[in-house]
Amino acid sequence: MTKKDIGKSLALYPSLIVVIGVMEENTPNYLLVGHLGIMGHDHYMVSLNKNHYTNSVIKSTKALSINLIDEAMLQEADYVGCVSKKVADKSKVFDYEVGELNTPIITKSPLSIECKLEDIYETPGFDNFILVPVHTYVKEEYLNDLGKIDYQKLKPILFEFPTYQYLKTGEVLKQCRFSKKN
Ligand SMILES: Cc1cc2nc3c(=O)[nH]c(=O)nc-3n(C[C@H](O)[C@H](O)[C@H](O)COP(=O)(O)O)c2cc1C
Repeated sequence: MTKKDIGKSLALYPSLIVVIGVMEENTPNYLLVGHLGIMGHDHYMVSLNKNHYTNSVIKSTKALSINLIDEAMLQEADYVGCVSKKVADKSKVFDYEVGELNTPIITKSPLSIECKLEDIYETPGFDNFILVPVHTYVKEEYLNDLGKIDYQKLKPILFEFPTYQYLKTGEVLKQCRFSKKN
């Protein structure tokens, strides 16, 4: 093996980072999540440590919002990822509208997805929430002429765990062969 084996390591980065929003009796709470995934073409997964305040709210309301982060909201997003509702009220960190599933849709976020809870896959110490997206709310300025999301304009933030740094996106390297433009 010409590569150095650094053993069992969390190394699947950089990855998209999002703010999860939940609503508990008309009061929102938020937390930052990097461990999330796409399952098939119709499910998402959000992996939450069982110690977080938010888990029990998702289990009872069976809904949450996934809010993409751009540079303009990074400071607030970082805060909700470093402070638990167990020690501080985070309900006023973001302005929001209420979505159809009664989740907080963060006004500052360029794109928010309302999901309903389908299942929970438990791994040691973690609740992995299996979610079905129901509504996708996008600021119109991030849609192109065809009504598709333009990620060069939206520029969602990435994160990497080993050094705890946030990274930029938005630069196109190449058009994919599958795309109609080819
Ligand atoms: C950059 C970053 C990424 C994070 N990713 C996750 C994650 O994927 N899963 C998780 O359970 N917690 C993650 N956290 C930690 C939670 O966001 C944090 O503990 C939060 O305060 C929990 O809020 P709550 O107790 O109000 O639910 C992350 C924190 C930061 C700063």
